[in-house]
Amino acid sequence: MTETATAQNEYVAFWNDVLVEKFERFRNILMGGLSYHSDVGLNALEVRTGARVLDIGCGWGDTALQLARRVGPDGEVWGLDCCEPFLEKGRRDATEAGLDNVHFIAADVETYPFKTRFDLCFSRFGMMFFASPVAAMRNVHKALKPGGRLNFIVWRTIDDNPWLGLPKELVLRYLPPPGEDAETCGPGPFSMASPDLVTAQLEAGGFTDITFDRIDGPVMVGRNVEQAVAFQLAIGPAGEVFREAGEEAERRRGEIESALADQLAAFQRPDGSIVMGSSSWSITAHKPAA
Ligand SMILES: C[S@@+](CC[C@H](N)C(=O)[O-])C[C@H]1O[C@@H](n2cnc3c(N)ncnc32)[C@H](O)[C@@H]1O
Repeated sequence: MTETATAQNEYVAFWNDVLVEKFERFRNILMGGLSYHSDVGLNALEVRTGARVLDIGCGWGDTALQLARRVGPDGEVWGLDCCEPFLEKGRRDATEAGLDNVHFIAADVETYPFKTRFDLCFSRFGMMFFASPVAAMRNVHKALKPGGRLNFIVWRTIDDNPWLGLPKELVLRYLPPPGEDAETCGPGPFSMASPDLVTAQLEAGGFTDITFDRIDGPVMVGRNVEQAVAFQLAIGPAGEVFREAGEEAERRRGEIESALADQLAAFQRPDGSIVMGSSSWSITAHKPAA
């Protein structure tokens, strides 16, 4: 069942070359700390026993495993991601859990030639980074059976997500904003915050009956202040400002780390972890029945 992404676009290459290592370092935050949104989204999602489900941009595969339990032995789940190293963890966890109805595939969802047809396509934060969002929507639409459903979770605006917005504001007090040619992982975490834009993309992809449900809740962004500071300077909008500023950022690292530590300490819980506010959309769209 293993296939690999062949011709990589620049964003897929950025995920593999730059982000895999950083994501591995902060897995406790990215997989566990942000899971409030999929806990709410998946709880509300009707998943039929025996269904065939695709998890798009599945990362380490924890939501694919949750879905595999929900569909049961008569169902099947595919976890698809453009980074093979993430999928290795998914495969290990599936084996440990005794789940043989989940498969992990390394591929770019924009171009993967799906032959299987799914009842449900799901994604937690895996749909915001495409080189061509409409091409991706069309391909996901093709992967669904007539009458099938797409449900995906994306971040709302940066103003609705202080866990990313506040550190970015702070870092910008010390460093210049990234230039137009900054290396990125694609359109970015807020690229699907606008319901009008996403509705247009989905409709261009062939979807109908599109709804947006808002999910507001806490995210754990560090087991302690030190990890939260390191996380903010490595990943996300503050991390992008820091990375793109190069030597200037390194020169000012000490003062930026200390200011961030003060800012983030205000969100510390009694167990030491840093918990901040966040907001996402759970978006549902349908492929019309034939
Ligand atoms: C923010 S992570 C979310 C991962 C996982 N769903 C989670 O919530 O932990 C985004 C994921 O999308 C994957 N991704 C980005 N662009 C992709 C593409 N074109 N095709 C497949 N996966 C992609 C990345 O490799 C990454 O694992």
